[in-house]
Amino acid sequence: MQLDDDDKLSQFLKINDELNHIKDIDSLLDTILYKTRRLTNADAGSIFLLENKNLNFSYVQNDTLRRRDALNNKQIYSSFSIPIDEKSIAGYVALKGKSLNIDDVHKVNDTVPYSFNSSFDEIAGYTTQSMMTIPLITTRSQVIGVMQIINAKDELGNPVPFKTSDENYLNFFAGSATSAIEKAKMTREMILRMIKMAELRDPKETGSHVNRVGSYAIEIFQKWAEQNNLKYREIKNYKDILRISAMLHDVGKVSISDIILKKPARLNEGEFKIMKTHAYQGAKLFHGNVSDLDTLSYDIAYTHHERWDGRGYPRMLKGKNIPLAGRIVALADVYDALISARVYKPAWDEAEVIALLKKEAGHHFDPELVEIFISIYDVIKAIRNKFPDKE
Ligand code: C2E
Ligand code: SIN
Ligand code: SIN
Ligand code: SIN
Ligand code: FE
Ligand code: FE
Repeated sequence: MQLDDDDKLSQFLKINDELNHIKDIDSLLDTILYKTRRLTNADAGSIFLLENKNLNFSYVQNDTLRRRDALNNKQIYSSFSIPIDEKSIAGYVALKGKSLNIDDVHKVNDTVPYSFNSSFDEIAGYTTQSMMTIPLITTRSQVIGVMQIINAKDELGNPVPFKTSDENYLNFFAGSATSAIEKAKMTREMILRMIKMAELRDPKETGSHVNRVGSYAIEIFQKWAEQNNLKYREIKNYKDILRISAMLHDVGKVSISDIILKKPARLNEGEFKIMKTHAYQGAKLFHGNVSDLDTLSYDIAYTHHERWDGRGYPRMLKGKNIPLAGRIVALADVYDALISARVYKPAWDEAEVIALLKKEAGHHFDPELVEIFISIYDVIKAIRNKFPDKE
């Protein structure tokens, strides 16, 4: 379907409103790209955000690759960065703060400083042709990143150039997308600070563990939701709050003393009894159900140490009486605790970890979720790559 220009403008205004309700930065980038691609009929796209003076590859969508490989979700966890200079298209756009609409990236002429880097295409087995690159600029004229959309398609699905009129709308839309991104980044940073205060009390901690647990959780949920026929919108809304809530699973550790929390040895019985109170202490922080985010954070904090067989804590809930999100985070958290080193234990071998998860299917863990976890294991590994523990 081709939309005329007035329709597009009003569509973008509607989307604006939607963007302001999204809390999680990744689900926000997902929505921005998805809506932009739909209105411009673009096959693919990605968003780069500025971090430490480089453009970090932060989000990607590609319909063609997704059709080819259902597991291509791991792509969104790729990480690389490019400098802000005139050599690359994205770098040039960030540097100049002006959009570029290129009909064919293989035919850019010699008078311009930038050229197309085909290495990503080669790795992915994809052919980029038309490309529109839009700077993400704040109202204070700071560039915070760029959005790149690739291969506009005609009615037959063949790649064609992007329209000049699209460029105008997108520059306008990019402004509101930028302010939504800034807000979501602030939310993410506040949460990471809260976690540092609560759990780690260590200024060097980067939040890798909680970032991984949050990402594992949404990927497990995504697969579960597809298997259980949840609607697209339900999935999307749930994922928006699930990542944040999952990241906060252990925030109740704020009430545990350093002597116990950082003990570089096994806890004794009395110490472990105190440690176990972190589940309820965390839940209390979210009591009151002011928002969906509070409710889900409450559920996860309260139930992430329950076990499928009813032998967990604090309430010894069993099976599906444990909220789905608690069952998901239990699995994600234990996997990550085992595969990583802790003050009280070295990292386990991968094979031992997988063996334990399989052994505990139907005992500690919901067996359906263990099966899902194994089936998306290459995505899980991509997440570990993206958020490594710092030395
Ligand atoms: P955590 O380090 O995030 O670990 C989360 C969960 O992963 C643990 O919940 C447990 O189910 C699993 N897990 C972690 N390490 C091992 C392991 O070596 N073997 C097995 N089988 N499972 C493991 P759990 O046991 O309820 O512990 C909750 C939290 O209590 C832990 O969170 C950690 O902060 C603390 N903790 C538990 N045991 C010890 C300990 O011996 N020493 C210290 N210092 N802290 C401990
Ligand atoms: C998606 O919605 O397909 C990806 C969102 C995410 O996994 O972060
Ligand atoms: C733990 O170390 O926290 C779990 C006890 C175990 O090794 O089985
Ligand atoms: C389930 O328990 O399988 C789904 C219901 C839920 O806990 O959200
Ligand atoms: Fe915990
Ligand atoms: Fe944890």
